[in-house]
Amino acid sequence: MAPMTSPFASETFTLDGKPTPFAPGQTVLEAALAAGHYIPHLCWHPEMGNHGSCRLCVVEANGRIHASCALPAQPGLQVVSKSETLTRVRRTLLEMLFAEGNHFCPGCEKSGDCLLQALAYAHGMTASHFDPFYPQRRIDASHPDLWLDPNRCILCGLCVRASLAEGKEALVIGGRGIASRLLATSPSGLLGDTALAATDRAARICPVGALNFKEVGFASPIGKRRFDHRPPEAMSDKERYT
Ligand code: SF4
Ligand code: FES
Repeated sequence: MAPMTSPFASETFTLDGKPTPFAPGQTVLEAALAAGHYIPHLCWHPEMGNHGSCRLCVVEANGRIHASCALPAQPGLQVVSKSETLTRVRRTLLEMLFAEGNHFCPGCEKSGDCLLQALAYAHGMTASHFDPFYPQRRIDASHPDLWLDPNRCILCGLCVRASLAEGKEALVIGGRGIASRLLATSPSGLLGDTALAATDRAARICPVGALNFKEVGFASPIGKRRFDHRPPEAMSDKERYT
């Protein structure tokens, strides 16, 4: 990724031993990405900012582990984004996401085009060590062009934020704890009864196989899918985000 350091960047903090410039108000994650220094993340998006839910962006600073998407960059701050501990924590978080849903990649049309799967590969996740939950939430296929599989949703909130930003407010995350899930805001609770349209930003922002277009699955041959050859770390913004 070409470095995109802000022209307003003046001060620096230390990231993995390297002075890293930041602009006032930037978080550690924003400044790192702008400087071409990748920190894993699922719920941060260049257009939508952070959600704070995935926790994959953890770094070590001030003797503690922080979410870098919520940690303001400060002059002289010493940040470590790569360590054995952090790799283990991130792999555990990924395994938890796999365990909580029904992430059966061999039967998922997003395989090879999925940020969750690509990050699991990049973290050497050879197996999930948690007993899977096998949730039984039903698919919502009420929309003529779109469908939602809540058992693949990682609750990153990206589609909710995109729909809010474009003034539709078609989606919301509801429920508590393990009952949390993405819901349509229509009185019927069906996607087809919201104003969500296939042309909406929200309809194509999902980083996994949860909120999908109908009738377009399995279009890319194996070997030509987005993450077949390179991990998210080695990608440009244009390739990494949808
Ligand atoms: S449907 Fe996709 S974009 Fe929306 S919250 Fe779930 S994982 Fe995120
Ligand atoms: S990117 Fe920081 S919590 Fe998801």
